Amino acid sequence: MSDTRANKRFRSQEWFDNPNNPGMTALYVERYQNQAYTRDELQGERPIIGIANTGSDIAPCNKIHVFLMDRIKAGIRDGGGIPMEFPVHPIQETGKRPTAALDRNLTYLSLVEVLHGYPIDGVVLTTGCDKTTPAMLMGAATVDIPAIALNGGPMLDGWWKGKRAGSGTIVWESRRLLSEGKIDYEEFMSRVCASAPSLGHCNSMGTASTMNAMAEALGISLTGNSAIPAPFRERMAMAYETGKRIVKMVYEDLKPSDILTREAFENAIVVNGAIGGSTNAPPHLQAIARHAGVELKVKDWETVGFNVPLLLNMQPAGEYLGESFFRAGGVPAIMGELKKAGRIHEGVMTATGKTMGENLSGWESQDLDVIKTVAAPMRENAGFLVLSGNLFDSALMKTSVISADFRKRFLSTPGREGIYEARAVVFEGPEDYHDRINDPALKIDETTILFIRGVGCVGYPGSAEVVNMQPPDAVIKAGINHLPTVGDGRQSGTSESPSILNASPEAVVGGGLAYLETGDMVRLDLNASRMDALVEEAEWQARKAAWTPPVIRNQTPWQEIYRTHVGQLADGGCLELATAYQKVARDLPRD
Ligand code: FES
Ligand code: MG
Repeated sequence: MSDTRANKRFRSQEWFDNPNNPGMTALYVERYQNQAYTRDELQGERPIIGIANTGSDIAPCNKIHVFLMDRIKAGIRDGGGIPMEFPVHPIQETGKRPTAALDRNLTYLSLVEVLHGYPIDGVVLTTGCDKTTPAMLMGAATVDIPAIALNGGPMLDGWWKGKRAGSGTIVWESRRLLSEGKIDYEEFMSRVCASAPSLGHCNSMGTASTMNAMAEALGISLTGNSAIPAPFRERMAMAYETGKRIVKMVYEDLKPSDILTREAFENAIVVNGAIGGSTNAPPHLQAIARHAGVELKVKDWETVGFNVPLLLNMQPAGEYLGESFFRAGGVPAIMGELKKAGRIHEGVMTATGKTMGENLSGWESQDLDVIKTVAAPMRENAGFLVLSGNLFDSALMKTSVISADFRKRFLSTPGREGIYEARAVVFEGPEDYHDRINDPALKIDETTILFIRGVGCVGYPGSAEVVNMQPPDAVIKAGINHLPTVGDGRQSGTSESPSILNASPEAVVGGGLAYLETGDMVRLDLNASRMDALVEEAEWQARKAAWTPPVIRNQTPWQEIYRTHVGQLADGGCLELATAYQKVARDLPRD
């Protein structure tokens, strides 16, 4: 492999150095030169490296990338490339209404257009907040030019009165204390704000930490990238090394299609179980896989990932936060422990230019209180169950957050362990839930199963994180923090609620949840991975026949485009038509 341009024609040369079209070449060079790139930089023997910047004032979880740009660019320069930063449509989980999930596919689309339509030979994908990571990887997979992910890193650990206050996790806990009347609104605000002490993304194992662990497990970032806290010097060094490495990847022509293989996705699924990762990972990984042209099914999460032990003691499934995870070795230590137990495909190629097995050489837990071994884990069988039945074709349940109390209360009837039958109460979206949850007429008690529908990709739109419904105040005051909850939306990755979620197909497109009524009996059978409404078949069919789809009202053009083309969460919630476009960099756009 050569490091000189004499042996390599870069894609960017089709813009900046195309003798067949001197007129257009001059126009491309002239305008990029006006910001003081020299002709030698644009037309010389160096690749152009795009940097997709997801950080801005409006995207605080990724704001750190604004400050990492200098280090990324220095790395690209020292590696022999020419950096070109460009902005990315923001996806701020805690800012965008109706939900940031609506924008994942919009950011994906816009990244595909930038990478396809501009003179870019390789790209650094800056990641962080929940949907930014899958959006970047989906786009890179579709275009298939050399690409590497750089996380911004989690915030420092939050603390409240001497205890770790984890992102999101403290919100759920504080909401319960507020409902019980144990704290007032001022303390509620102070507790929640204490969880965010610095720049960075969520410091618990929510969707942000999960998706960056997934990027690393897939092999599309440098080893150790995901867990370094945002303010640490190691984060800046990682930015520099990532910039340096992407230039080499261009010379090696090491593309997402070389890295994102079926085996790489299986590694990611196994790592998700071991870290107690977010229930948002399955739809996001499905989406990345589909754009990469890799066969992955939602049921793979159970078959490949259920019998994985929980190794990481981090909120919400455990106790610690991001700083401890980093000091204990981060994702390479998790994967090193899994590798010892033969749970990792070691031969897969990665962004380092080496195999995953080579990357993990020498890595193991540096603190057994934080990262456990496979021989002595936090718990066994910590992956997702993928349920089906007459209410949905598939729905997920995160077993690593089923507490001993929840298991005893709902899943331990002698002789019927893992089976629970109860009366359903159904809500039509989060507004209906908030209006009626404390209504005594619903007769919600400690035995009820709560359902929410109309909150999937088409219904919400975008699929809302609302399935982890809090029980009525009276039930909480009686000491019960969680009732079983079910829905066609999602829940925050920071939630410790063992909900049954991502139900597909969703109610508004005629999924089984649409026909459920308050008062119906429902059976959950974890041994058979099933959930069914116990309604006579004739009655069920009659309800189906009488059902009419709800009227959908769009508020923006994108909502209409999204709803017209989006698929179900079980299939990644992709724009279905987009999955037909693969490796589009091979098809050069017209001049
Ligand atoms: Fe952005 Fe959690 S809200 S990372
Ligand atoms: Mg979230």
